[in-house]
This record gives sequence, structure tokens and C-alpha cells, in this order.
Amino acid sequence: MFVQPITNLMTSAFGNVWNKYFQNNPDVWDRMYRRDYSRKLDSDGQQARNFVLAGIIHSSGIACPRVLDVGCGNGSLLRLMGRQPIEYFGLDLSTTAIEEARDKWANKYPNAQFEVADFHSLSSSDSRLSEKFDFVVFNEVLYYFPLEDIERVLENARSHLAPKGEILISMSENPKAQIIWRRCLTKLTVLFEHYVQSGMFTAWKVKAFR
Ligand SMILES: C[S@@+](CC[C@H](N)C(=O)[O-])C[C@H]1O[C@@H](n2cnc3c(N)ncnc32)[C@H](O)[C@@H]1O
Repeated sequence: MFVQPITNLMTSAFGNVWNKYFQNNPDVWDRMYRRDYSRKLDSDGQQARNFVLAGIIHSSGIACPRVLDVGCGNGSLLRLMGRQPIEYFGLDLSTTAIEEARDKWANKYPNAQFEVADFHSLSSSDSRLSEKFDFVVFNEVLYYFPLEDIERVLENARSHLAPKGEILISMSENPKAQIIWRRCLTKLTVLFEHYVQSGMFTAWKVKAFR
């Protein structure tokens, strides 16, 4: 009775560490999503960062903001976007996550687009991303890129921004995140930041850059 949840938990914990610190691997992500990783992403404890990100997008005053959600997973950010019209483009390494996202949001957001893609190897001239975005979001994603590639990833993100567009980044507190935050400042200007606490042991920083 308890075996399945425990195996799922171990797959997700091991997969996270592997993808973050060794080699970011789509097959490992697929396995995690097949083993109920979305349950963790959709859990109440994870929503604080989504509330803040959705709030920033809402309060921008843009009538129908264009959002590129890099590493969108199952599209959990959409859950908190309420009724605001939004042009949403989610991309993710994991085919399983994207299939799940398409199923999940087909009714509520029929125009939302979900694509399997590695942002790392996506050029700024990729036809799937031909328009510019008001927000490029990295929600719990940036530390899965190798450290030496962070600057290139940020430059790529900036090339997809509309004038006055913003790059929104959330990361939990860990040593890799600290290095990445410093590297962000070499390429981008920070506009504002929030510290988001969820319960006793979980916290994120959410920052907006241009
Ligand atoms: C911790 S999950 C976060 C998912 C979602 N942003 C959320 O907050 O619910 C990280 C996601 O980033 C995706 N990912 C990691 N590296 C990626 C890359 N290079 N390009 C696109 N997606 C990537 C993974 O497949 C995974 O779904």
C-alpha cells in the first residue's frame, strides 16, 4: 500500500538531484512525470511561488500578456492565472509533461500552446517563437541548466522579450541558485524581488529582470 508513493518520492528526489547537479536528462524527467511528479508540482506547498508570479503578470496592466513559460512542466502556473486573458506558450524538455499539460488545459485555455523543446538549443530565430513576449518565465527551472551556460540562456531569453518585457525567475534557496543569481546580474538588471516562504522549510526568491 505504501510502496508506490515511496518509490515515486525516491524517483522524484533522485531525479531532481541528478538533473540539477549531474546531467539534465529528458528521460529522467519523463520517468519522474510518469511517477506522479505533477502531484508535487500541484501540491499546496508549491503554490506560493506561482501566486507571486501570476500576481506580477496580472498587475502588469497588460490586457492580454504574452507569456513564455520555459520548463513549464504540466503548466501549473496557468492554474493561478484566473480569468485574465493570456497568450501562453509553454515549452518543456519532457514529452510526458507536455502531453499532460495539453490534456489538462485543453478546455480552460484552448489557445495555450505547449511544445516539447530544449530551451538550451532553441535559437532566437526558431519559428515556433517568432513573436516577442511580455514575460519569459523560468519557474523552478534555471538550475537545471549547466552553470557555464547560464549567461547564454539569459541572453537567449532576452532575445524573446518585447520592449519593456520582463524575465521572471523563481528559485529555491540552494548553493547553485546563489551562483546563478550572481550570474544573472552580469547580464540583466534586477527590477524587484520577493522572498516567498511556504511553511517551515520551503522558500523561494522570485525576481524580475530586464
Ligand atoms: C522543477 S520542474 C518545474 C516545472 C514548472 N515550471 C513548475 O513550476 O511547476 C522543472 C521543469 O523544467 C524542465 N526543463 C529542465 N530543463 C529544461 C530545458 N533545458 N528546456 C526546457 N525545459 C526544461 C523539466 O523538464 C521540468 O519539467
